[in-house]
Amino acid sequence: MAKPKSTREFSGLESYSGEAPAPAKPVTAPGVYPTVRPRRNRGDAWSRRMVAETALRAEDLIWPLFLEEGEGHSKAVSSMPGVERMSVDRAVEAVAQARDLGIPAVALFPHVPSEKKTTDCAEAWNPDNLICRAVREVKRQVPDIGVLCDVALDPYNALGHDGLVAGECVLNDESIQALIRQALVQAEAGCDIIGPSDMMDGRVGAIREALDAAGYQDVRIMSYAAKYASGFYGPFRDAVGSGGFLIGDKKTYQMDPANTDEALREVALDLEEGADMIMIKPGMPYLDIVRRVKERFAVPTFAYQVSGEYAMIKAAVERGWLDNDKVMIESLLAFKRAGADGVLTYMAVDAAKRLKEG
Ligand code: PBG
Repeated sequence: MAKPKSTREFSGLESYSGEAPAPAKPVTAPGVYPTVRPRRNRGDAWSRRMVAETALRAEDLIWPLFLEEGEGHSKAVSSMPGVERMSVDRAVEAVAQARDLGIPAVALFPHVPSEKKTTDCAEAWNPDNLICRAVREVKRQVPDIGVLCDVALDPYNALGHDGLVAGECVLNDESIQALIRQALVQAEAGCDIIGPSDMMDGRVGAIREALDAAGYQDVRIMSYAAKYASGFYGPFRDAVGSGGFLIGDKKTYQMDPANTDEALREVALDLEEGADMIMIKPGMPYLDIVRRVKERFAVPTFAYQVSGEYAMIKAAVERGWLDNDKVMIESLLAFKRAGADGVLTYMAVDAAKRLKEG
């Protein structure tokens, strides 16, 4: 056993590597006022900047946007003030703006009209579906931004689930076959990052294998590795028009909000199966998961500030109860502090503008 340290060696510097230098004078009660005054470092703006441990940059933000059919129009999403569903041409303009602000990637989500929703979800692998057309246009007109596509069947499913449904059951292995087809048409359209958000077991490995076999070994996978069965997705389901269709809930495949060890296991499996980056979702209520995952795996770790988190903040801002700019930046910085390498957020463009203004 190591020799116990004398009391005077406990200087509060133990977290520094190596031996902490012995203080010049014996410190009887380390770390106390009036010798120590943490406010000194906070006393000036330059000093606060100098000691800041975390920084938020436009490069940390991924912007999810909603698409709809048509041309030259956009439609407000009522439960997400400030968010619009856009036709592809409008979306391309918006993506160019995001690129100009330094945002490295966008995530595209389709609003699918009810006549295209079926129980076999075939529109998901129609190579001319809205998502594929949008990906082709974005990559053609704004090639220097990354495009992430969600892989899950819910926008296309007449029963609203992320997988194929038989009776009461969301089928796992059959769903994987459908998800593979969906991922392949997206890769073919030019998608840079496949984002499986469906939470079927084994889908990351199966999609990786299929992508490689089809020559898409450079297409990345950002898996929604720890995705919880959350009430915070409500406004998203309005935005993509899937809410009214969902039969039951997603608890047999999305995770129980009570669990954290299970998140580590899900992340470990997705990494073994070939995920290049992983995501935790929702965001702010799950920052403990972000921290544990980042510390354990040290891989690119993203978090999704989901629609309900956005709606909560905007609703309070609309009532004058919160200051938009302050809580926007603070909420996003919190993700970085927790260990996230980046955040998917509907506020990405607003936040990037705000950051540019300084
Ligand atoms: C689809 C999907 C969802 C979200 C992203 N991809 C909804 C869900 O799983 O029900 C939610 C995003 C958000 O709420 O902002 N599987």
